[in-house]
Amino acid sequence: MLAQASPWYVHALQRTSAGPAEPLSVPARMEWLTRRDRGPGAEILNLGPHRKRVLELGCGPGHNAAHLATRHAARVTGVDLVGLQVRRARSHYGRLRNLDFVAGHVLHYLQATDEQFDAIYSVFGAVGLVAPQVLLPAIAQHLKPGRTFAFSVPHPQRHGRPPSIDDRPRRDFVTLPDRSRLPIVRWDFDCSRWETHLDRAGLWLSSAQEFHDARQGRWPTTLLITARKL
Ligand SMILES: C[S@@+](CC[C@H](N)C(=O)[O-])C[C@H]1O[C@@H](n2cnc3c(N)ncnc32)[C@H](O)[C@@H]1O
Repeated sequence: MLAQASPWYVHALQRTSAGPAEPLSVPARMEWLTRRDRGPGAEILNLGPHRKRVLELGCGPGHNAAHLATRHAARVTGVDLVGLQVRRARSHYGRLRNLDFVAGHVLHYLQATDEQFDAIYSVFGAVGLVAPQVLLPAIAQHLKPGRTFAFSVPHPQRHGRPPSIDDRPRRDFVTLPDRSRLPIVRWDFDCSRWETHLDRAGLWLSSAQEFHDARQGRWPTTLLITARKL
């Protein structure tokens, strides 16, 4: 019920009804930004050469999870709120080893698992869409010490908006494939507010980068943050 009331369900429904999801070849790069082939790749997760356990929060169609499982010998789980997205991800990449997709809310997944991960990440996924005061401690609890948590979010000053002045979420929109928009709320923090919340959860902010997309004017479009578990 929760998932079907969500704009993300409508988003997935429109995407899916546009055509059947086919098996896809594995992307050559990990993408953190709205434009492909720009910015850093998987190296910011610091996975190293040995097999690692990795969790994606809000994996959508699973492109990045497939890349990490295939090109970085990681064992990856992608979690997404919407069962239709998970079905789509499985149609694209279900044939791959060391990769699985789970339908559910990321908080429920984190609360139910007793696994410890070598990296946890989100690419315009659940981070920012779930109260950070609850989500960040749950992430920290399941990340091994010294390991990386990384996420990209829409930049809080996109389109020239002023940054949030408090810890409350703001109104935002999901743009659907048919270009219509549905309202959501987003915790739209700037870098220093993220740092404060990461710190409270026992995560140390190690880098924050902002990115522009020339197609979208002079304002930054994406904030990419990495943090380390203390
Ligand atoms: C903008 S899409 C990004 C998908 C993917 N990371 C990518 O880069 O293509 C956001 C995804 O987050 C999922 N999502 C939103 N809130 C979530 C939550 N609380 N738990 C799990 N997934 C969530 C949505 O269903 C949607 O598939």
